[in-house]
Amino acid sequence: MSRRIAILPDAVADQIAAGEVVERPGSAVKELVENSLDAGARHVRVDLEQGGKTLIEVSDDGCGMGREDAVLALDRHATSKIRSAADLVGIRSFGFRGEALPAIASVSRFRLVTSEDGNEGTEIGVTGGRVDAVKSLARQRGTTVTVRGLFFNTPARRKFLRSVPSEARAAHDALATLALTHPEVGFELQIDGRSRLAVPPDQSPDERLAAIWGHDLVKTLIPLDHGVGSFRVTGFIQRPGDAAPSGRRTQLFINDRPFRDPFLVRAAEAGYRSAIHPGDRPSLFLKLETAPEEVDVNVHPAKLEVRFRDRLGAERVVEEAVREALGRRAAAAVVWANGGDRTDGAIRADSTPDVLGILDELRSASPASSDLSVLTDPSLPLGASLSAPPALTQLFNTYIFYAESDRLVLIDQHSAHERVLYEEVMTRIQSGGLPSQRLLLPFTLEFTDEELEAIEAHGEQVSRIGFEVEAFGGRSVVVHAVPAPHPRFDAERCLRELVSDLARGRFGGWANRLERFAATYACRAAIKAGEALTEQEMRGLVTRLFACALPPHDVHGRASMVQLPREELERRFGRR
Ligand SMILES: Nc1ncnc2c1ncn2[C@@H]1O[C@H](COP(=O)(O)OP(=O)(O)O)[C@@H](O)[C@H]1O
Ligand SMILES: [Mg+2]
Repeated sequence: MSRRIAILPDAVADQIAAGEVVERPGSAVKELVENSLDAGARHVRVDLEQGGKTLIEVSDDGCGMGREDAVLALDRHATSKIRSAADLVGIRSFGFRGEALPAIASVSRFRLVTSEDGNEGTEIGVTGGRVDAVKSLARQRGTTVTVRGLFFNTPARRKFLRSVPSEARAAHDALATLALTHPEVGFELQIDGRSRLAVPPDQSPDERLAAIWGHDLVKTLIPLDHGVGSFRVTGFIQRPGDAAPSGRRTQLFINDRPFRDPFLVRAAEAGYRSAIHPGDRPSLFLKLETAPEEVDVNVHPAKLEVRFRDRLGAERVVEEAVREALGRRAAAAVVWANGGDRTDGAIRADSTPDVLGILDELRSASPASSDLSVLTDPSLPLGASLSAPPALTQLFNTYIFYAESDRLVLIDQHSAHERVLYEEVMTRIQSGGLPSQRLLLPFTLEFTDEELEAIEAHGEQVSRIGFEVEAFGGRSVVVHAVPAPHPRFDAERCLRELVSDLARGRFGGWANRLERFAATYACRAAIKAGEALTEQEMRGLVTRLFACALPPHDVHGRASMVQLPREELERRFGRR
């Protein structure tokens, strides 16, 4: 009997490995630049021709290699970065498999020039995995790897390459990502002789982010910092009002290692929920830290993905971090107090009953807002002006206006009320529902077939927000009870619009059915622009707004408040 199983020659095995590690020029750039960074380079230069299809060259001034190491580096599983599997836990270098150099060399015309001491250097030429020559030459300390004709000997793979611009873009992005991980290192990228990226060494992380993402985008970011259990998330997220449906950037890191994870991106987006329009995609720059044993970095051929031991925990902390950052921003936006740090605590302190005197009312009106107890936490800082809340003025029957010591604030009454109702509905619909008012005289409404179907489909929620609706035969329904969100509430009109929105799928972008319903109701039930409010009503609305998790945004992602800093006024009047 003939033998059917044979061990593959190394060259073939390397080519197979190359299929996994090196998918396109950008992945070779990634592997080579990672090696430069692992070698402690202060300067890394990348040259590409034809998007890297014909030439990729990466030069660094890192530690270099002696002759023996240089030869060894081209063998499979030759690495200086780990000695045993145990070293993988908490590994800080990018590389650890000893795969990249032999893989790249097996599918290209490859040249490695390196020197450890800055005098004597070694040059090794490899063609399709076969070493042609090993020579000595002079070179400064560091390493240059030149890769020509990537996939020249694997035409099937070569065919899968995309257009030159698209390969160039992928290579640029790979380098940009690595440049973000090491702001202390300078990077240069030349494509077909033109400089496409150049950042100096010794930048701060913020400077580097601005250099890579551009000032215009970075200006729209706000910081975040949140920790739970073994996870901590820092970084930046885009302000809700600046998020757009396209053109966003996302960058995730785990313990300083870039990785991709659509579920974490989604978790971050969930943190924005109800603060941005459902179609908008915010830019995200999130750095996760966790204990080394919580994450396995050795699960993806190109090390682009990682595995979390507690995946749900990671998602939860990301979502919370975003929510917390947006909430903190809300708190920082408007505070009654004079001066001092505009912290989360300050705004809550400002909402104590002593301050506005209506918290008790609020509490009895919405017992389900369970975190109201923190509003009276005596340990929170109290500002000097707390006993004198600002006077509220209504403008154009649409905006609520007040002045603080350092800013003017305008609140859109409809947007603000929409936010308040949305959050109240979300809290209370799950815990039994909102109070409703029985009508002495029930009214009937006519609906279309589609609308009747919508009422049926949302029957449970319709009744929980306080509408008691009964089919009356034909296309009519009788309404026996209605919610009463404010004195001028037009129940009939609200129900008609709500049902029409639901039937037409108008808030269709909302993934979650309950949230969609709450947003629709909030939009239709909220007090409208053009309605005159009493001082008491304005005060109630503002207080309830600041008790919300996301006061500065209505459910469409529009602003519910704007402010004019005093400084800005002073600038405009030439006082500064
Ligand atoms: N630019 C470089 N400077 C110094 N040493 C390098 C460089 N590139 C590769 N090496 C050496 O070659 C070894 C093999 O590289 P590689 O195949 O990428 O595997 P890994 O990075 O997983 O160790 C590395 O462990 C390192 O010792
Ligand atoms: Mg490597």
